[in-house]
Amino acid sequence: MLRTILLSVLMCFVYVRAQNPTPCIAPQQFHARAAMFDHERDFVNRYLYIYDAVNKRRVLFEETDVGMPGQKFYEYMEFANDNVMYKIDIKSKECTKSTPRPWRPVEIPGNATFEGEMTLGGPGESFVVQEWSDKIPYRRNAMFYIQFSLVNCYPIKMIEVSDSNVTNSVTTNFFDLVEGIPNPNDFIVPKECQMAKLEENMQFTHK
Ligand SMILES: *[C@@H]1O[C@H](CO)[C@@H](O)[C@H](O)[C@H]1NC(C)=O
Ligand SMILES: *[C@@H]1O[C@H](CO)[C@@H](O)[C@H](O)[C@H]1NC(C)=O
Repeated sequence: MLRTILLSVLMCFVYVRAQNPTPCIAPQQFHARAAMFDHERDFVNRYLYIYDAVNKRRVLFEETDVGMPGQKFYEYMEFANDNVMYKIDIKSKECTKSTPRPWRPVEIPGNATFEGEMTLGGPGESFVVQEWSDKIPYRRNAMFYIQFSLVNCYPIKMIEVSDSNVTNSVTTNFFDLVEGIPNPNDFIVPKECQMAKLEENMQFTHK
């Protein structure tokens, strides 16, 4: 009897393990380029994306060579430890500030659901990624999907749904990833931000 119970416990364990591989540990700091597709605004913003989970801060510097005529370009600086976020108009240097949303690390969340493993690219130029979500099976749809490269655990793609409303979702694609923070000066807040006016509901994407 005991043997049977032990065996079935073990089988359960093996089954669960087989279902859910161990999540990889994402780098704490990286420099990347990122394209953020805001599905509600139907618009893509392209950024240099400088990420520092050690100090809970990130900078998104908009690439200004890919816009439409008259488009405004911004730099966003998020400092979760100080609960402040700045938005700087890259041309005029005008700076506004806001309270950031709760810090969302670019990593596999606790209790994540394994969504699958797949190969990106084609023959001769491929690599394997794993996809995870915060879905709770039979209870809640995912509000967060994230895909990581299998070997070094760099982010590839991330989908964030706000307000449980899939219309309010942003898909971020990461590319040209570099380890660490090549230029720490990227986190120096410009002096224009000392007098920054408050802006409500600041988001990383804009039209
Ligand atoms: C995982 O889920 C359990 C049960 O809901 C919860 O107690 C625990 O805090 C969660 N862990 C993380 C890391 O979110
Ligand atoms: C989802 O968000 C869109 C855009 O903000 C809004 O028009 C729509 O009413 C929302 N849907 C629900 C079910 O709240």
